[in-house]
Amino acid sequence: MAKHTLPMGGRRFSKRPIGSTPTPSEATVAPKQTLSITDNRTGKVYEVPIKDDTIHATDLRQIKVNPEDFGLMSYDPAFNNTASCRSAITFIDGDKGILRYRGYPIEQLAEKSTFLETAYLLLHGELPTKPQLGAWTDNIIHHRFIHENVTKLLEGFRYDAHPMGMFISTIAALSTFYPEANDIKSPEIRQRQIFRLVAKSPTVAAFAYRHGIGMPFAYPDDELTYAGNFLNMMFKATETKYRPDPALEHALDVLFILHADHEQNCSANAMRSVGSSHVDPYSAMAAAGAALYGPLHGGANEQVLRMLREIGDKKRIPDYVKRVKAKEVLLMGFGHRVYKNYDPRASIIKRVAQEVFEVTGKNPLIDIALELERIALSDDYFISHKLYPNVDFYSGIIYEAMKFPVTMFPVLFAIGRTPGWLAQWQELLNDPEQKISRPRQVYIGSQERDYVGIEKRR
Ligand code: CMC
Repeated sequence: MAKHTLPMGGRRFSKRPIGSTPTPSEATVAPKQTLSITDNRTGKVYEVPIKDDTIHATDLRQIKVNPEDFGLMSYDPAFNNTASCRSAITFIDGDKGILRYRGYPIEQLAEKSTFLETAYLLLHGELPTKPQLGAWTDNIIHHRFIHENVTKLLEGFRYDAHPMGMFISTIAALSTFYPEANDIKSPEIRQRQIFRLVAKSPTVAAFAYRHGIGMPFAYPDDELTYAGNFLNMMFKATETKYRPDPALEHALDVLFILHADHEQNCSANAMRSVGSSHVDPYSAMAAAGAALYGPLHGGANEQVLRMLREIGDKKRIPDYVKRVKAKEVLLMGFGHRVYKNYDPRASIIKRVAQEVFEVTGKNPLIDIALELERIALSDDYFISHKLYPNVDFYSGIIYEAMKFPVTMFPVLFAIGRTPGWLAQWQELLNDPEQKISRPRQVYIGSQERDYVGIEKRR
C-alpha cells in the first residue's frame, strides 16, 4: 500500500493498515481522534482529524488521483449529514425528543419563562437580570410602531392577499426605512435592528390580517404584554381598551416560546445563508420567512388544518392513512428531519390546547387529530419510518380555537421564530470560521459544445 506523501494542513498519515486490530499497547491508550481513509483508486492512506464527531469536509480535498485533480468532495443534497456551523443556541436530541435553548429545557421555559425573556436568552446566551429584562422590554415596546408609509404599502395589497406573502414583503421593505441596517459590522446598529424586528413583526402581521378583513389598523398598546398586544392589534374592535383573555394571552406566549428557535432548520439556514452575503437583516429575514412559508416547513400548520377538515370525520381516518401509506399524500404535521421520537413541543402544545379549550370551547378537529395520532402511532408504516407528530400538528387547532384564520398560522410561526432567526444571524456574523455561504456542485450537464444558429436547430 503506497503511503500518501503530500501532507495537508499538518495532517499525518496512519502507520497501521486500515481495518487491522490495534496492538495491545495501542488499545490501552486513549483512542486517536482521527479517521483513516484509504483511497482505493490510488492505494493512498489519509488520516483526518475528528473534532466534535465531525470531520472537516475540506480535509477531503487532499485526496486526489493526481496533483491536477480538484480533490474529493462530499455530496450531501439537503444537508442530510452535514453540519454547516458551530452553534451554541439550540440543542436537539432527535432520538430522545430533547429540545433546549441555551441549555434550558423547552419544558421549563414553556412553564416558567415568557416569550420576551426567552427571546433575550436566545439572543444574549443568558437569562436576563431584572434590569436587563426591563430595558429589553422597554426597547421592544418603544419599537412596536411601524412607519405610516409601511401601512400604505400594506394597503396596496389585494384584499385576498395571503398574509404570509404580505409579511415577507413588508419585512423586506423595512430595509428601505432603515438604511443604517446595511452596517452589519456595528454591534450597536445590529442591536437596534434586532429591537425593531422583534418589536415590529407582530405589528406587520396583525396589520396584514386587518387589511384582509377590511378593518382599520389597531395600533400597539404599550400597557399590554407582547402576546396581549398582538391579540389587541388583531382583534380590537370598538372597545376603547382591548383586554385580552389572560388564558389565551398566556397560551399564545407559550406558543411563541415553542417556536422561537429550532437550530439549523430550513428557514434558519436561509437566514444564515442569505445573511452570509452581509446583506441587511430585513432582507435576510424576508428570505427566512419565505423558507418558512413552504408547506414542508412552517406552512405545515396551515396544511394540517386543511387536512383535518378534509378528513372531516373520524370514520374517514383509515382511508386517509391508506392514502398516506400509498404515498399519495403526506400526513401533514408528522415527521421531522431531526426528531425520530415525539417532538417535545407537540406534547406541550397538546396540554396548552386543553387550557385554551376551557376558554374557547373545544375545537371539534381535536378529536380527529387525537384519533389520527392514535391510529398512526400504532401503524407499522409510521413506526418503521419513525414518524411522530411535530410542532405543527396541534398548533393550528389552538390557533383556530383562538379565532385566527388558517392563513395566519405561518405568520404566527414567523413571529415566534423572529428572535431565533436573529440569534442565528448574530452568531453567524460573530463566527470567524464563517464566510459567504457557497456550496459546491457535481456538474452533470453537457460538455463544451458549439453554439448552433436558430435556423439550424431541430
Ligand atoms: N407522511 C408520510 N410519510 C412521511 C412523512 C409524512 N408526513 N414524512 C416523512 N415521510 C416518509 C417519507 O415518504 C420517506 O419514506 P420512504 O423512506 O419510504 O421513502 C421517509 O418518511 C423519510 O422522509 P423524508 O422526506 O426523507 O424526511 P425528511 O427529513 O427529508 O423530511 C419533513 C422531513 C418534515 C419535510 C417530512 O417529514 C414532511 O414532509 N412532513 C410533513 C410536513 C410537516 O409536517 N412539516 C413540518 C415539519 S416540523 C416544523 C417545521 O419545520 O416547520
